[in-house]
Amino acid sequence: MLVLGIESSCDETAAAVVEDGRRVRSSVVASQHDIHAEYGGVVPELASRAHAERITPIVRQAIAEAHVSLADIDAIAVGHRPGLIGALLVGISAAKALSWSLGKPLVGVDHVHAHPWAGLLDTDARIDDLFPAVGLVVSGGHSSIYRAETPTDLVRLGATIDDAVGEAYDTAAAILGLPHPGGPRIDALASEPHADDRAVELPVSRLGKKSLDFSFSGLKTALLYAVRGVPGRDGVFPNEAGELSPERQRNLAASFQRAACRAVVLKLGRTIEQWAGDPPRALIVGGGVSANSRLRRELQEFASAHDLRLILPELRYCVDNAAMIAGLGAQLLATRGPDDLTLRAMPTTAC
Ligand code: KG4
Ligand code: ZN
Repeated sequence: MLVLGIESSCDETAAAVVEDGRRVRSSVVASQHDIHAEYGGVVPELASRAHAERITPIVRQAIAEAHVSLADIDAIAVGHRPGLIGALLVGISAAKALSWSLGKPLVGVDHVHAHPWAGLLDTDARIDDLFPAVGLVVSGGHSSIYRAETPTDLVRLGATIDDAVGEAYDTAAAILGLPHPGGPRIDALASEPHADDRAVELPVSRLGKKSLDFSFSGLKTALLYAVRGVPGRDGVFPNEAGELSPERQRNLAASFQRAACRAVVLKLGRTIEQWAGDPPRALIVGGGVSANSRLRRELQEFASAHDLRLILPELRYCVDNAAMIAGLGAQLLATRGPDDLTLRAMPTTAC
């Protein structure tokens, strides 16, 4: 079965053709980073316009690279939540038009729930061997822990109460004078030889004793104060922005990364402690920050210490893509069937 996936929830226009939910026949991603870079973040109206210009050529490219024709496609899957409404509407409209004109089923996919599926793409891992599983999504918009009984049956156990971890990485990068999106740049700086991850002690939020939620705003503020000093009563910072030596910049990047990764692993530890019923067999991770080299290492250690099979996406499937949408879409079609043409764009995740 061939599913065409379409993704346009934020600043990537993407289309993919995936066979039987697992084998990626093509995956095309057009990033808009160049459009938003000068604003230091995604500008919704610019994102929608860029999606509208790109969606048709990107779908055509995905079909061509898969060496199929539209007539060979069995179903259309589209990310319909969460995201920027104007951006989502572009992908949803394209998906509905294709579904209606080709007479093929349409299925709406929750983008956040699709991220963990990315780790199953192009692998032979047997789905039945992995569940129940701990699901972890660490992305630019979400930081969530799930109890997953199956790939489509998720209960959220914890989520961020303020910023997502990727958002914190991007803000930290801006504080350190690095361009947007900053996650990969912090990762690179922190990986340089001689980067000292203990140069500055930054806070790791714990919240309540049993809380599985995340908070990254205190970490961002602590980094800001480490760079600019603590503001006086007049609200003015003692230090100017942009006065960091390369050595200080990489030490701060490494110290930030250490604290951010500790926060994630700490909550995973609590998740295992509090888990009731059949023990988890796997830790399935997705989202842009799952590309982070330190987090990948720490998750590896965590998984082997807790006897969990670790499912991490290949680097190209960590950030937003349509292959994960097509993959989970195939699974949803098999378990709960298609949606109709009233499928709506929703700003929030289902859970
Ligand atoms: O999953 P994603 O593409 O978008 C959302 O669904 O939000 O994640 C994008 C986020 C950005 O915040 C980006 O800085 C972060 O993933 N990111 C990284 C790395 N690569 C991407 N953060 C840390 N280290 C990386 N190597
Ligand atoms: Zn995403």
